[in-house]
Amino acid sequence: MFDALPDEVKIVEVGPRDGLQNEAEHVPTDKKIQLIEALGASGLRHIEITSFVSPKWIPQMADAAEVAARVKLPPSVSTSALVPNLKGFESAKASGMKEIAVFMSATESHSQKNINKTIAQAVDTVVEIVAAAKAAKIRVRGYLSVVFECPYEGQTNLVEVVRLSNRLFEIGIDELSLGDTIGAAAPNQVKNLLALITDAKELARIALHFHDTRGTALANVLAGLDSGITIFDSSIGGMGGCPYAPGAAGNLATEDLAYMLSQMGIKTGVDLEKLVDCGQLAQEIVKRKLPGRYLQACLSSRAKRQKVEASQ
Ligand code: HMG
Ligand code: MG
Repeated sequence: MFDALPDEVKIVEVGPRDGLQNEAEHVPTDKKIQLIEALGASGLRHIEITSFVSPKWIPQMADAAEVAARVKLPPSVSTSALVPNLKGFESAKASGMKEIAVFMSATESHSQKNINKTIAQAVDTVVEIVAAAKAAKIRVRGYLSVVFECPYEGQTNLVEVVRLSNRLFEIGIDELSLGDTIGAAAPNQVKNLLALITDAKELARIALHFHDTRGTALANVLAGLDSGITIFDSSIGGMGGCPYAPGAAGNLATEDLAYMLSQMGIKTGVDLEKLVDCGQLAQEIVKRKLPGRYLQACLSSRAKRQKVEASQ
């Protein structure tokens, strides 16, 4: 059925950023660091740890510099942080970040709400940041949001998505993550969009970033794999959402993604049991049950096992 599946997939864990940015209650810096270090110990090799955005817009990320400075991870784990402008870039650089992520939207309304800029202004900002990052030998990931549907404008124009994707590569980003910010896409839409990206070198550097609002994220991963994509973003336990995209629920859960890929014989490098421990820790931190299906299945079997052991 799937004859061109990759041997290996790169998972980019975005929980400490995309997940926690949406938490209304302040999460102590120590807890963020504890979670990031646990994620690093689970075999995940790429973790987006924070964002150097305006604390007025996203108060939860106000401790970005402290998180970046204090977190300790094995050298096999690379980290990135979101930056919205040169100010954020300079802070990320000063904090020792070796990779940053720029972000912009494929629709004017989401762009205004998220970064208070038009698309054209956002492109100019990306140009400035990428030039500064290249000069400092810092790797750049780029996000393009609302590529399928926008909470303000409805269905997104795919011609615009392809134009902006090409523009971002032309500016010099190293990797592009296409975001289904409000989790509205279905697999046929994923295939239709990817079919418009005809440059194989670009396709190899594209990641898919699914939120799972309507339960289609894993099906969309399958569509992506079938179209040659080998990089997927996900968030521990399925935490997440964009504060400027009403109705956006959590990201695809990392454990659900890792489990499906492992069952399909695709390597990810992660230890599923350790990932479940991370999911449990994330639940303790946000003080509620997270939506990850694999996480809940494992935690409920662990609880049953413990009950049986206790009764013996
Ligand atoms: P603005 O208000 O237009 O900017 O915000 P400004 O330049 O007028 O600055 C306002 C204040 O913020 C000033 O402080 C600046 O110094 C400060 P004041 O002088 O008033 O005291 N400031 C900063 N402080 C720290 N770090 C900075 C920074 N920049 C300005 N980097 C801005 C424009 C872009 C800054 C703002 O809109 C912003 O930070 N937006 C970020 C929104 C955000 O983080 N959204 C969520 C991430 S995107 C997402 O989740 C989607 C994604 O997951 C993919 C997907 O799902 O599709 C990536
Ligand atoms: Mg997101």
